[in-house]
Amino acid sequence: MLTASHLGFRYAGVPVLHDVNLHAEPASMTAVTGANGSGKSTLLHLLAGITAPAEGAVRRGPGVRVALLPQRTSEIDALPLTVAECVRIGRFTPGGLLRRLTGQDRATVTGLMERLDIAHLARRRLRELSGGQRQRVLIAQTFAQDAGVLILDEPTAALDTTSRRSIHDLLTDRVREGAAVIIATHDDEEAALAGGTLHLTAAEGL
Ligand SMILES: Nc1ncnc2c1ncn2[C@@H]1O[C@H](COP(=O)(O)OP(=O)(O)OP(=O)(O)O)[C@@H](O)[C@H]1O
Ligand SMILES: [Mg+2]
Repeated sequence: MLTASHLGFRYAGVPVLHDVNLHAEPASMTAVTGANGSGKSTLLHLLAGITAPAEGAVRRGPGVRVALLPQRTSEIDALPLTVAECVRIGRFTPGGLLRRLTGQDRATVTGLMERLDIAHLARRRLRELSGGQRQRVLIAQTFAQDAGVLILDEPTAALDTTSRRSIHDLLTDRVREGAAVIIATHDDEEAALAGGTLHLTAAEGL
């Protein structure tokens, strides 16, 4: 569904990634691990097409959509969105912003809000939530996109055990349904859910 070959990246000439290769098949989960600063977030941005690689290429299968949950998401707090609106946004595909939500869209949104235990927060603004509640809303928005490739940057790093478990269940379900999941994590238990691991080491000195 997504293949990255020989990726290289530098920030202002400073090398971060060198010759990184990844092949995400349907119904697969890949963990991206490595120390702080090893380039996990940088790699996920390249895979999602947010930034262009200095070397190599990222190819998606025809018609494959990618959803990214970034590690840092402060910009969205500036918008006066409620929790329900924030999750619903996930249902709008590019170019389809003005269409009405269908019954299927509403069922997906409601189902995700229940599974992530945020249904009772539906009318609250994003900035009125705790850090973990807010993260669960952003995870719900990412899942709501029904994308073939899900790229998640340390999604459960600040979550309690119950929330972490429900997210792992959701991820496992999506993989079973055919999605390719790519997840950056520092948690060995989370990495063990994945069928394969890409371990990054600092590229300094290249
Ligand atoms: N915008 C930027 N400009 C310059 N250097 C950057 C920028 N963003 C990240 N870096 C550097 O690139 C390297 C990789 O950063 P990245 O955020 O990809 O690491 P990471 O593996 O995701 O780390 P963490 O586990 O802390 O999330 C680090 O050395 C970081 O200092
Ligand atoms: Mg990171």
